[in-house]
Amino acid sequence: MTTYRIAPSLLSADFARLGEEVRAVESAGADWLHFDVMDNHYVPNLTFGPMVCQALRKHCTVPIDVHLMVQPVDALAQAFARAGAQLISFHPDASTHVDRSLQLIKAEGCQAGLVFNPAEPLDVLEWVIDKVDLILIMSVNPGFGGQSFIDSALRKIEAARRIIDREKQRSGRDIRLEVDGGIKIDNIRRVAQAGADTFVAGSAIFGQSDYKRVIDGMRDELERA
Ligand code: DX5
Ligand code: ZN
Repeated sequence: MTTYRIAPSLLSADFARLGEEVRAVESAGADWLHFDVMDNHYVPNLTFGPMVCQALRKHCTVPIDVHLMVQPVDALAQAFARAGAQLISFHPDASTHVDRSLQLIKAEGCQAGLVFNPAEPLDVLEWVIDKVDLILIMSVNPGFGGQSFIDSALRKIEAARRIIDREKQRSGRDIRLEVDGGIKIDNIRRVAQAGADTFVAGSAIFGQSDYKRVIDGMRDELERA
């Protein structure tokens, strides 16, 4: 039995009431809090940094899942670890030394993830899979909430699932497979069937007034996956 996790993305929350939004989405049933960090360099948008993460840490008990869309990676990864993040993921093409960045995140006591853009291959995993705790497949191009799901992500999720299963056989380690972008109640089951176990959803949740109704709706779909 797969344990599914839903990770609401704060990117679509009301930035003027972030603490309240974090509490609301946690009591609506969020498993993780997805925290999208954009630097207006790696992606054409700018969000929040480690100080905001640290301030929000006090408002929730669920793990904070930091998605770094920044270049360079290492200094900010370390700052987010110290700001209370449990999981920190980065884009391999944004780091000059991917293996070093992974080691650095793990040395801070966090789980480390690699993120793959829609047009990016999974090749690098062959060399660093033993240091990866999470694979995050982008089903939109990073930078903005509210975009439509790109279908080729389904094939990439299937490929990532095969890599994860092989690693599980080899080492017994569990690696989570997360998907980010365009996830809604009406496509989440299909994405789970391709092999994903963790789902980021921003606009689908924060775009509605009743967060619990959306999260419950997603869980109902996942039960039928
Ligand atoms: C995009 C971000 C996503 C985004 C998802 O760069 O990484 O986490 O917030 O938003 P929706 O669910 O609206 O596609
Ligand atoms: Zn994200």
